[in-house]
Amino acid sequence: MPGDATFDELQLLVRARYALIVLDTVEVERAEEGLALTASRLNLLYFSWSRSRGLRRGALPSDPTVDQTDDPALALAQIREEGAGLFHFRGLSAHLDDPAVVSHVLDVVQQFNARRGALVLTGHGIRLPDALRPHATVIRLAGATFDDYRQLLERLIREYSARMPVKIELTAADRLRLVNNLTGLTLNEAEKIITKLIVDDGALRPHDIERVNAAKRQIVEQDGLLEFHPQSEGLDQVAGLGGLKQWLARRRAVVAEPQRAQAFGLSFPKGVLLLGVPGCGKSLCAKSVAHEWGLPLLKLDPSNLYDKFVGESEHNFKRAMLTAERLAPIVLWIDELEKAFASASADADGGVSHRIFGTFLSWLQERKGDVFVVATSNDVAKLPPEFIRKGRFDEIFFVDLPGEGARAEILRIHLSKRKQDPLLIDLPRVVAATTGFSGAEIEESIVSAMYAVFSAGTSLTTETLLAEVAATRPLSTTMPERLDALRRWATQRTVAAD
Ligand SMILES: Nc1ncnc2c1ncn2[C@@H]1O[C@H](COP(=O)(O)OP(=O)(O)O)[C@@H](O)[C@H]1O
Ligand SMILES: [Mg+2]
Repeated sequence: MPGDATFDELQLLVRARYALIVLDTVEVERAEEGLALTASRLNLLYFSWSRSRGLRRGALPSDPTVDQTDDPALALAQIREEGAGLFHFRGLSAHLDDPAVVSHVLDVVQQFNARRGALVLTGHGIRLPDALRPHATVIRLAGATFDDYRQLLERLIREYSARMPVKIELTAADRLRLVNNLTGLTLNEAEKIITKLIVDDGALRPHDIERVNAAKRQIVEQDGLLEFHPQSEGLDQVAGLGGLKQWLARRRAVVAEPQRAQAFGLSFPKGVLLLGVPGCGKSLCAKSVAHEWGLPLLKLDPSNLYDKFVGESEHNFKRAMLTAERLAPIVLWIDELEKAFASASADADGGVSHRIFGTFLSWLQERKGDVFVVATSNDVAKLPPEFIRKGRFDEIFFVDLPGEGARAEILRIHLSKRKQDPLLIDLPRVVAATTGFSGAEIEESIVSAMYAVFSAGTSLTTETLLAEVAATRPLSTTMPERLDALRRWATQRTVAAD
């Protein structure tokens, strides 16, 4: 059974009289199954509690429940009336800020000194109150492996084929792809999805492989904080930024073969922070990294983080981080980081944003999965200084206004993108005229010039393009002080991206 090693360890702990065990997992069903099995191996009765059902004697829905035990304090009190047993409490962490519940837990733990058994709390990222911490042992249920998903798929095919005619039209390579697409889902979710695919039309076909991705997307987006971003172009559509590109290229092999890299002594890169002048390709780069590395791109959209009622946001944020880890290896893109955490120091919202900020910082430093974070920021003044400290990101890059070479490249890229022939334009003249322009401003000039010539029924020329350039007031001339300050700040603390 998947996670065997975890339950072996748990069994040893119970034998060794550890009375309070926290099993960290998102897969409550798997935990339940494993705990019931552990109880029977230990010759203990198995009990399972949840707020909605109360205390139940056994793991099956048909097992009897003890009356009036939906209240956590009453359920814990009931334990003391029972004999030796393994008591599984799911979702108790929501009640651990109640001193009465904590006190009941302490009583129960005390009782296990005199009789066999243990109290097991399951959930993800449970934070214990200080009073319980010295009594508790935390173990983590390992996530499902490739083999677990493979076995699950084979078992379900076998089971359904025995019951109904099932057409399997998958080649060995298709099966491999299907199993690969399942990674990141809990086994329980994976089972539901495969079952649906089989039962829907009595067949497993190649197009079902894509439907797994659709189902996965739904799971990711239900939190409202993360979204799957469609793949965009690669870094060849980004002009300049040679230093950053080289840094990324050097790490491509590590990302492609994380196991081999690990054996060699290299770990999965943590992430980069791209700081700099607006409109110079930071967001563009962030999107391109995923394409370049062949990884899925998840975007964290913190704009609705604080909309929901207090308390919810913290929970949602943690769940989003966990989802990101589950789907690893991925690129996680956080655009305009300062907007998400600018209010972190003000405690206008009762400290919620401050706590989320703290959670995020420690997640950045300690996260487990292969999640490469690309964060961008346009405004260092608004960015909490904690992000700049060592250890949060592998590197902090400063993205400045494009130089001559990069401007020529930007012109070529954007002219070609819009079906214009760069050879018909006197590029050196336009490059000279766009000194101080950002990439976005150059792009806008091209587009405006195209509107002008299209409505006039003519075609794009160097002159028409130069006319638009002359009419543009770039940010670097409207706010030169801001740019200077940014540049001075950055040369002290960051690496040039170019
Ligand atoms: N270095 C560049 N190479 C190619 N296009 C660029 C570059 N910089 C900016 N652009 C164009 O300007 C647009 C806006 O740039 P963006 O990446 O959003 O800037 P920011 O640095 O503010 O995140 C891009 O989508 C792209 O079309
Ligand atoms: Mg941007």
